[in-house]
Parts: sequence; C-alpha cells; structure tokens
Amino acid sequence: MPTPTPPTDCAVRFDPARVQRYIDDLGAIGVHPEGGLYRGLYTPAWAAAMDRMETWLRELGLTTRRDAVGNLFGRLAGTESARVVLSGSHVDTVRQGGKYDGALGAIAAMLAISALGEACGPPRKTLEVYVICEEEGSRFPANFWGSRAVTGQIRPEEPDRIRDADGVTLAEAMRAQGLDPAAIPSARRDDLDAFVELHIEQGRLLEEGGYHLGVVETITGLRHLRVHVTGRQDHAGTTPMDLRRDALAGAAEMIARLTKAAAAMGRPAVATAGMIAAQPGAINIVPRAAQFTVDTRHPDPARRRALVAEIEGILQEVAARRGLGLQVEQLADHEPTPMAPAIRQVLAAAADAEGLRWLALPSGAGHDSQILAPHVPTALLFVPSRDGRSHCPEEFTPVEQIVPGLRVLARALHALAY
Ligand code: GLV
Ligand code: MN
Ligand code: MN
Repeated sequence: MPTPTPPTDCAVRFDPARVQRYIDDLGAIGVHPEGGLYRGLYTPAWAAAMDRMETWLRELGLTTRRDAVGNLFGRLAGTESARVVLSGSHVDTVRQGGKYDGALGAIAAMLAISALGEACGPPRKTLEVYVICEEEGSRFPANFWGSRAVTGQIRPEEPDRIRDADGVTLAEAMRAQGLDPAAIPSARRDDLDAFVELHIEQGRLLEEGGYHLGVVETITGLRHLRVHVTGRQDHAGTTPMDLRRDALAGAAEMIARLTKAAAAMGRPAVATAGMIAAQPGAINIVPRAAQFTVDTRHPDPARRRALVAEIEGILQEVAARRGLGLQVEQLADHEPTPMAPAIRQVLAAAADAEGLRWLALPSGAGHDSQILAPHVPTALLFVPSRDGRSHCPEEFTPVEQIVPGLRVLARALHALAY
C-alpha cells in the first residue's frame, strides 16, 4: 500500500484569490433565470463549462482528452507507470443549484495536480484530473452517466430509452454534442489505481463540530421510487367525502406518513417526496390520478432495508384502505458504499500532516465515488458547507475553508503517485 509521505522536497501552495477566481468563473456559466445555476447534461451551459475546464487544463500544462460520453481528462504523465491516480468530480448541476457541488472537486483536482507537476516534477504514476460529465440526474433520469461510462455500467439500451422532460433521448442529446452513443463502451477504463474526490459536505457536521475536513467512511444507500396512485374522477361539489376515491388525497397521506416514518427512525434516515402531479388538475374535480417521487436513504444496509420496507407497507396500506390503485416504479437502488480504508488512511494522514482537525463521517449525498469504489480504491474528502446548505443557490464554502482541502488533496495525490 502507498505510504502517506508528505511532499517534503516540494512545497505546494494555493493562492486563495486564484482559487476563488476559478470557482466564480465556472460558477458564472449556466446562470438560471430564477436563481442559482443549471447545467444539465449536454445543454449549451454544460458544453460551455466543459470547454472552459478544458481551456484551463491546457493552460496549466495538462494533456486533455474527452471520452465517448464527454468526460474530460487532464493528464500529467508518470515516469514509471501508465497506471492512473485519478481525482475530480462532476460539472453538471441540479436545477437552481449552487456553484460548489461537483465543480469544486473538478477545480480542486485541476489545481492540485497542476501544482504538484509544477512543484514536484513528473509523478511516478500518471495523475489525471477527471472532469465528470454528469452525476446529478437532473436532465435525464440517468445519473452517474460519466462514472458509469468509465466503469462500463451503461446498459446498451439506455441512450435510446432514456428521455428528458421534452422527450429528447440521451442518444439524440449526445449526437447534438458530436458524441456517438455507439462508442460508449470505449469509455470504460481498466488503467485506474485510485480515485480521490474532493466535495463539499452538503451537511452541517463539519461546521457544527468545528472540523476543517471530513473523510468519508461510507456513502449512503438510497432507493428512488415513482409512485402512481389511481382513483376516480368526480365532481368536487356533489361527491360526498365518504364516497370518494381521491388519488391526490391518498398520495398526500402516503407522503405525510412516509416522511414521518423516516423522522421516527432518527438521523441519518431520510425520505423526501420531491415531485408531485395530479390529473386532471382542476379546482372543482376530485383527482383521478396522482404521481409522486420518493427518495429515501440510510448509510446502514439493514436500516435502509427496514426503511424501504416500512415505506412500501405504508403505500400499500393507504391505497388498500382508500380503494386506490397503486403502482410503484423503482428508479434507482444503491446499497451503501464503503470507501477504501487504504485511501481513507492516506487522506487522514495528509490531514494530520497539515495539522487539521478532521472527522470520519458518512455521506448522505450520492457521489461518483460510490460508482468508482467497487472498481477502483476510492476515497472522498469533504470541506465544510455553510449552514449545511446545498442543492440550492445559497450553497457556499469560504475559500479559507477550501484551501486546507486542496492542501490535503495535493498531499494525498503526492503520496499515491510520487
Ligand atoms: C446527488 O447530489 C444526490 O445525492 O442526489
Ligand atoms: Mn455532487
Ligand atoms: Mn448534487
């Protein structure tokens, strides 16, 4: 295993003002008219952000390459090995998201790897910045598109099957960006030795505990559902309450009970209904149908199973009691993913060498690291998030809290590649 030696013969420094400039420049691409950012996969804003990253990588002396799905890599070639130590994160954003989720990890890898090259010369193993094309699933219901491509997990039918809200298929969106869906298998990589992702915490544990950094032990498991409830359309004025089969009232009861079930299980169990729709959608009609999504998560495998089972039981009980039809569509299912102990240890040693207070913690958010981890030894480093805010325009980390993360990332990459 690599020994986590700090770079003693070469000092890596980061100028906070310069770091902030990169964050602000990337954060000016994809401004949403109602606030925050939106860089959906293969949109013009996404393409502009990827181009900007490529320009910077080249300016900083790295050799760039794009793969079949549009992932971008910036390479610092190793003197002894073409095996690759990879670091980065995603450039897409949620709708009305902030400028740190994902983007910070791509910028951090770029600055850490280029600084190492400048201060320490070429590494022994190859170092690469990984600018991931998509993680959030916010344009297409197909998240982790970039990391699933690199790990060979995209199923052949996905590009033609999966559509955005306007009915555009992933394959069509790829072609519009000059990418060939048939080439997706070529994105798979078998030359990776390690992956390290720097990310904002998106929670409040670091801030509340006064920690500089977090070293993630496990990324939470999740289940995503779309629930279809069907009832009977009736007149809202003349149909007595006891004779109704109101799909939306049923959905509302389901949501109230399933969120209560997660709250009753206690932290870190969560359940969210983030989208709801009803038909036909009129003030004076009892809704005949309703659909809502469920996102439920727990980092402990047994607790996650118990929570999912309880939620499914609630859906069935409410539907049966109210005489409603129920169809539960599973959109995603991820087991909790542990990070590699050896790479976590490298991060912990680097944080100790920098004299920083760090916390071992679970991640409640999903990350590309969970996709890479079963294939490549992987670890995830958190910097604090102000007030724990994320997936919103208020997302913020002061640059003074980012620079320690950059120093630890650089030290860890040095330990892994030099
Ligand atoms: C991604 O940010 C997720 O956790 O949903
Ligand atoms: Mn993210
Ligand atoms: Mn996110």
